[in-house]
Amino acid sequence: MLDYPYNREMRLFIAIDLPEEIKRELWYLSLDLRRQAEQARVVPPENYHLTLLFIGETKRVNEVRDALHLLSVPGEPVALALEGIGSFRQQGSRTWWVGVRVTEQLAAIHSELSALFRDAGFAIEARSFKPHITLARKVKASQPITLVAPSYEIRAEQLSLMKSTRETGGMVYTEIDSLLFTVNRKPETDILKKRYQGELLRQKRTYAKPNWEKT
Ligand code: 2AM
Repeated sequence: MLDYPYNREMRLFIAIDLPEEIKRELWYLSLDLRRQAEQARVVPPENYHLTLLFIGETKRVNEVRDALHLLSVPGEPVALALEGIGSFRQQGSRTWWVGVRVTEQLAAIHSELSALFRDAGFAIEARSFKPHITLARKVKASQPITLVAPSYEIRAEQLSLMKSTRETGGMVYTEIDSLLFTVNRKPETDILKKRYQGELLRQKRTYAKPNWEKT
């Protein structure tokens, strides 16, 4: 994959894409939600995803990719289960989502990703991990909305590094890198990790070094 220019700011997040069949079911669910609401901005099905880590605006795209590839992968697909449906309040309206069960494995992946990116100097929010797939934003309804939570099991094969851009038709998410859960590259990752941590340590030492020449 090509290196990205350092001077271009990108809005990035790490996510798991969903099978088409599930996207179709979630789309029907969001149409039901739309019918019950007075107002709703439904997410187009091609934009459905499960975010594992939000990185935000950064020019350090190549470092993001380096950090992503340090993640220890299980060497097999990651089991995900849709669980529950609900909404968050957001500035006078609600964002509706379908929940994803927080398994030990999913929580471990999220926590390792957070640690890797914090160590690499990215400002990662410490808020609790509530995995979800957003169905609609800016939802306003005068009557309570009632929806049946879908129940699905997914075997995710990979993580994607996504770029988000605001276009005239809405948000466009593009995959710019990916990491397979199924290929266990542990020995290779361990070497990379050591090299990377050594590099971080060297940088810290350089920054911390007093300027003897001037004293
Ligand atoms: P949302 O679906 O709950 O809005 C792309 O914008 C992805 O990053 C979405 O999954 C979005 O979550 C998530 N996201 C956007 N801003 C975020 C933030 N400040 N903190 C955490 N996740 C965020």
